[in-house]
Amino acid sequence: MKAIQIVAETGPEQALALVELPDPEPAHALTPGEGVVVDVHAAGVSFPELLQTRGQYQLKPPLPFVPGSEVAGVVRSAPPGAAVSPGERVAAFCALGGWAETAVAPAFFTFPLPEELDFAQGAALILNYHTAYFALVLRGRLEQGEWVLVHGAGGGVGTAALQVARGMGARTIAVVSTEAKREVAIQAGADHVVMVEDGWREQATEISGGGVDIVLDPVGGDRFTDSLRSLREDGRLLVVGFTGGAIPEVKVNRLLLRNISVVGAGWGAYVMGKPDLNREIGAAIARLIEGGFIRPVVGGRFPFERAGEALLALDERRATGKVVLAVREG
Ligand SMILES: NC(=O)c1ccc[n+]([C@@H]2O[C@H](COP(=O)([O-])OP(=O)(O)OC[C@H]3O[C@@H](n4cnc5c(N)ncnc54)[C@H](OP(=O)(O)O)[C@@H]3O)[C@@H](O)[C@H]2O)c1
Repeated sequence: MKAIQIVAETGPEQALALVELPDPEPAHALTPGEGVVVDVHAAGVSFPELLQTRGQYQLKPPLPFVPGSEVAGVVRSAPPGAAVSPGERVAAFCALGGWAETAVAPAFFTFPLPEELDFAQGAALILNYHTAYFALVLRGRLEQGEWVLVHGAGGGVGTAALQVARGMGARTIAVVSTEAKREVAIQAGADHVVMVEDGWREQATEISGGGVDIVLDPVGGDRFTDSLRSLREDGRLLVVGFTGGAIPEVKVNRLLLRNISVVGAGWGAYVMGKPDLNREIGAAIARLIEGGFIRPVVGGRFPFERAGEALLALDERRATGKVVLAVREG
């Protein structure tokens, strides 16, 4: 099979090589001795892969290795008891090995791909949407009618969070940095969109009538303190990522004085050893797809062999929605 390997930790432009490898065994490290084998049609491109080209991600296999945390494709084989069967269209989270014509995922991380979604959308489904649901609903205790402000709202996690929040009955405010990302946030169903450089906090406070209930923050950096200021009483700031570079610090007297919370939301570490929780989140996502709320926005489709360019789009803040690699036709 064809696969993309990371062969050096020299950044997205030089670290990748297109290689020919034997097909993988039907076994995954998280479920030793068994796994769902998937013929990959589309593979997701995300920050972990970008960081791995620089040796900066926590998951650090020895070089060379095939990166790729999630895929969509058709099941070739499945272990007994799996909820999917050969020939079925699926979305699967494999953590590694997804940038290949054939990949292996744990059965508990493999979900039927509904007809409403194409393979590219399927490759956008697990990392971002499961994270969005986990952060908003399980960690953030989102309630119907609440106001949710989403930073980086034109990106992968951001567009997913807008759709999940809306599906759970929330009202949303998207914060973005460019006109192109404004369009993407609107396409993702944002109720309101404000520009970062345009007094976003004042606008959000006005739109929400005094403050938002939840801020979902994949960006971090210098807008963190203003995010705290934009919360109303009982508000929750969900820490999801740090694309802005700096990891913010909080003076906890702000939390005491305003009765607000900062909540960490690290999906992978929380769900990895909990098959039942993954199935529960997968079922909730399936309901939101069925209800028409979830339609992943695919902003960039790159041929398999141009994976480096796909990573550069993320690195240079140009990516919109989810970036995917087309591995097979269809
Ligand atoms: N906690 C978890 O479990 C979890 C799960 C998945 C992903 N994540 C993390 O969430 C973050 C977002 O991932 P994503 O896939 O949504 O990325 P993405 O599609 O590239 O979107 C990230 C957004 O961050 C904003 N941003 C601000 N400064 C940036 C910079 N210097 N470089 C790049 N982007 C910048 C951009 O929005 P504007 O230009 O509009 O500001 C961009 O659209 C990553 O850090 C990822 O590792 C965390």
